[in-house]
Amino acid sequence: MPKIKIEGGHKLTGTVTVSGAKNSVVALIPAAILCDETVTISNVPNITDVDDLENILVHLNAKINREDGKVEINSSDIVNKEITESLSKKLRASYYFMGALLGKFNKVDMYFPGGCAIGARPINLHLKGFELLGAKITEEDNHFIIEADKLKGNNIYLDFPSVGATINIMLAAVKAKGKTIIDNAAQEPEIVNIATFLNNMGAKIKGAGTSTITITGVKYLHSCFHEVIPDRIEAGTYLIIGALLGHNLKIDNMIPNHLEALIAKLTEAGVGMEIGLDNVIINEVKDYKSIEVKTLVYPGFPTDLQQVMTTFLTQCKGKSTVEETIYENRFQNIKELKKMGAKANIRKDNRKATIKGKTELHSADVIATDLRGGASLLVAALVAEGTSTIDNIAYILRGYDRIVEKLTQVGAKIEII
Ligand code: EPU
Repeated sequence: MPKIKIEGGHKLTGTVTVSGAKNSVVALIPAAILCDETVTISNVPNITDVDDLENILVHLNAKINREDGKVEINSSDIVNKEITESLSKKLRASYYFMGALLGKFNKVDMYFPGGCAIGARPINLHLKGFELLGAKITEEDNHFIIEADKLKGNNIYLDFPSVGATINIMLAAVKAKGKTIIDNAAQEPEIVNIATFLNNMGAKIKGAGTSTITITGVKYLHSCFHEVIPDRIEAGTYLIIGALLGHNLKIDNMIPNHLEALIAKLTEAGVGMEIGLDNVIINEVKDYKSIEVKTLVYPGFPTDLQQVMTTFLTQCKGKSTVEETIYENRFQNIKELKKMGAKANIRKDNRKATIKGKTELHSADVIATDLRGGASLLVAALVAEGTSTIDNIAYILRGYDRIVEKLTQVGAKIEII
């Protein structure tokens, strides 16, 4: 099995260009099948989650042409058959085919999605939304058949502003009869990106980016060209790397506004940054102050940066804390970080960790436990003295576009072995 090998301690200089957002493109691709003509999506990152979605499209007989970060999808000849368990389980975002196929054919037949084991991750809110639109759900052993005679708009209140449920309900509702109102909707930038895509095809969605989204059903969705927004989690990961090792490191093609919470926390710790319109230039500083971090839904501190932030906190002087409010099991990386010398304790309820710094991290052979946990180890290995290896790197490659090449270009000693 391939591993990532990293010789730590090298300063990083130059420019890292941020790719298209994983959590946007993984919804845009399933959303594309709602279109009655051909759609083109650009700024598509080269990550394995996109490969897995492509396999589902091919399985459904959609035509897909993918090259140089551009994907063309035509679903005219799509066949609405069961998405097998192995295809469904490959990734979390396979669940967007529930909303998209239900919206297009009034029926979907697939299995519970996969994804990183960072918590229970139920889909009850997605299903509740589909039911309120008129669908009937039959579930047996993680196999779902969701079907409706006709989808009809309704008022849907989400008990929690779930990203996946908000997008899935939008997908099912765009062609439903009448008006759907989602209250307590998620407000992440990815939601806005998906709504813009659907509106570019002729959908009528208002309020994306706020807690109330209104969707008025339409009959036909036409061809369009759409660009994936920059990946705020990838950008945030490189910002944290820059805070630890940057010498005028420029993180380019990002939207600083999407990372206000991270930028505020790094500033509080004493990080030096020059914030431009679509870039940030960042420099390592010698001594950082300890800080308290708490994950929240957008625009709060993103859970997807919590684990990488934990690595940063090992380099802050004093006692820092990280509280995870979104997932029940997102501290698995800490056990591995400890192999590199991190001093951290996790509270019994697994919701809060205390990190003592500053620690001189040393090299170790570690295992990625999940996507962002893997990234946190990679960042630790870049900082640590000596040569480390990271196993289970499929997790990292699922969500970070050409990470080895991008880091090599700015001076890191990193390779896949
Ligand atoms: N939840 C429920 N019921 C539901 C849906 C969610 O209880 O029906 C709970 C979840 O268990 C979790 C919380 O609500 O505790 C948040 O879940 P949400 O639905 O918002 O997350 P998601 O759609 O499953 C997406 C991203 C995640 C990211 C979250 C939060 C994709 C494919 N995944 O997941 O990305 O952490 O939103 O921003 O878009 C990652 O990139 O590493 C990643 C895990």
